[in-house]
Amino acid sequence: MTVDIEGVTLHLAHPDELPVKWVGQEEVMRQLLAAWLVVDPQDLPMNPRLLGKPGVGKTTLAYAAAKRLGRDVYILQATVDTRPEDLLITPVIEGAARLRYVASPLVSAMLRGGICILDEGNRMSEKSWASLAPLLDTRRYVESIVAGIKIKAHPLFRIVATMNDDASTFDLPEYIHSRLQPQILIDFPERHEEFAILKENLPFGDDHILNYVTDFLQQAHAAEERYSARDGINIARFVMKLAHDGASMGPDLIRSAIVQTLGEEAIRYIPVRV
Ligand SMILES: Nc1ncnc2c1ncn2[C@@H]1O[C@H](COP(=O)(O)OP(=O)(O)OP(=O)(O)O)[C@@H](O)[C@H]1O
Ligand SMILES: [Mg+2]
Repeated sequence: MTVDIEGVTLHLAHPDELPVKWVGQEEVMRQLLAAWLVVDPQDLPMNPRLLGKPGVGKTTLAYAAAKRLGRDVYILQATVDTRPEDLLITPVIEGAARLRYVASPLVSAMLRGGICILDEGNRMSEKSWASLAPLLDTRRYVESIVAGIKIKAHPLFRIVATMNDDASTFDLPEYIHSRLQPQILIDFPERHEEFAILKENLPFGDDHILNYVTDFLQQAHAAEERYSARDGINIARFVMKLAHDGASMGPDLIRSAIVQTLGEEAIRYIPVRV
């Protein structure tokens, strides 16, 4: 798939297809969809930011919301090494003395009217963020220095950034902060929702194990521990594999799966009953 802009041929990225479904916590879903709405010809969509601890479902929510709108989703995974050209257009050598210009998932979404998830945006340096400033305000365009072109976003283009609060991150500069609004905070789910999340991700899972792991997670949440649905899914998955492989199901098996997933510190949240 290619697009010509100002005489430059751009090769576009493919949309991402993930088998995910959002379970429970409808309020944050509603807020995200509302932020993307355009309510008047003079209105503009917002550029929301999803915040929360690792594994609470930020990427899942962003993807599921985009799919509810029936749109193509382009995920750009940000890292500390993400350079401005990685966000926009990268030149790739193609044969003798020829360059091919490859559009990032972000620029592909801008051109196709898709939705871009700028995943773990907090890992990215200020220099990279600076190249997105005009996109995130009323201008809605980016300028690629490498290709020497200006790219305007399709009216249906939407973007969401996800960010977690771990240590390997940069503080966002204020002018970017103010362009990535609103902030939507994803918190740990209620017990019945957390059970449903485990069930959704492990539909073949034994309810007894899933309930036990849910109790474990809820005790950890009550103590403000950073264990998430992702950890719970890993624990339950490992227990089921061990049991399938012949290990005898019981407290010791679940206990060792918890320790092997989260370490000895996790023992204090293990429910008493099994
Ligand atoms: N509400 C939910 N509905 C369905 N699945 C969920 C939900 N919340 C979390 N999950 C599951 O938990 C796991 C972690 O979710 P996800 O990867 O979206 O978290 P994250 O917040 O993006 O984490 P990170 O900060 O590490 O990127 C996934 O397997 C996802 O399917
Ligand atoms: Mg994520």
